[in-house]
Amino acid sequence: MDNLQEYLDRLDMTRMPRHVAIIMDGNGRWAKQRGRDRSEGHAEGVTSVHRAVEFSSDMGIGYLTLYAFSTENWNRPQTEVDALMHLIGWAIERELPELLENNVRIRLIGDIDRIPEEARRKLLNSQSATAHCTGLTLGMCLSYSSRWEITEAARILARKVKECDIDPENITESVFADHLNTAGMPDPDLLIRTGGEERISNFLLWQIAYSELYFTDVLWPEFDKIEYAKALLDFQKRERRFGKTSEQVAKADDSKVGN
Ligand code: FPP
Repeated sequence: MDNLQEYLDRLDMTRMPRHVAIIMDGNGRWAKQRGRDRSEGHAEGVTSVHRAVEFSSDMGIGYLTLYAFSTENWNRPQTEVDALMHLIGWAIERELPELLENNVRIRLIGDIDRIPEEARRKLLNSQSATAHCTGLTLGMCLSYSSRWEITEAARILARKVKECDIDPENITESVFADHLNTAGMPDPDLLIRTGGEERISNFLLWQIAYSELYFTDVLWPEFDKIEYAKALLDFQKRERRFGKTSEQVAKADDSKVGN
């Protein structure tokens, strides 16, 4: 099958994941294969982001969370970091009118204070300008790592305990989750990683406890709507048991993907 419509015909619109998270890997290799600079791979990656946002919206997916820049990425050569920050600021500013038109809400996740001033201003502006939107929530993880996020949550809770704002006995999983950057968002149902590596790289470790994982060799700039549809089809084939037996799931009829 090489025609998007054939994939769309096989997708069950009533069983879409509520939340898809993506580790966008392979921009550098995509550029290298073409004898081009890594920054050109990232620029092509922005086109892929645009496509993924559009497709998620069309599929009625509620949340799309993208790993755009990790805490560890600060260790890349300064020229690459500068180019990426500039690109991210430029892209979000350029995309803002269309995001608004499509009712997409931007949610920034990560240590945003570390982002250079110009890009940070554009990102914060896009977040506040889209705060009223009720369609797809686009989570953008920037200067993000899961261990950082979990440590921050622990620190905030420790302060609250110290100030007698919360009793340690009342720190439940749900209270803890409310202190993560993703507070209020459902956990991802599906985590996709492009670029051939099969690891999580410090991404949403708490939130993906029960997510379905999908790894593809396709490099991020080549992750088109057909590739996305393939991931969704694969997801729809799976039975999600959340620790229960198949029989329990069948009986309770709660195995419907997306629940
Ligand atoms: C990983 O590829 C990709 C990144 C570190 C950056 C991803 C960022 C974008 C696609 C831009 C996002 C823009 C917005 C507006 C969200 P890599 O460089 O690690 O590739 P490699 O593994 O082939 O070297």
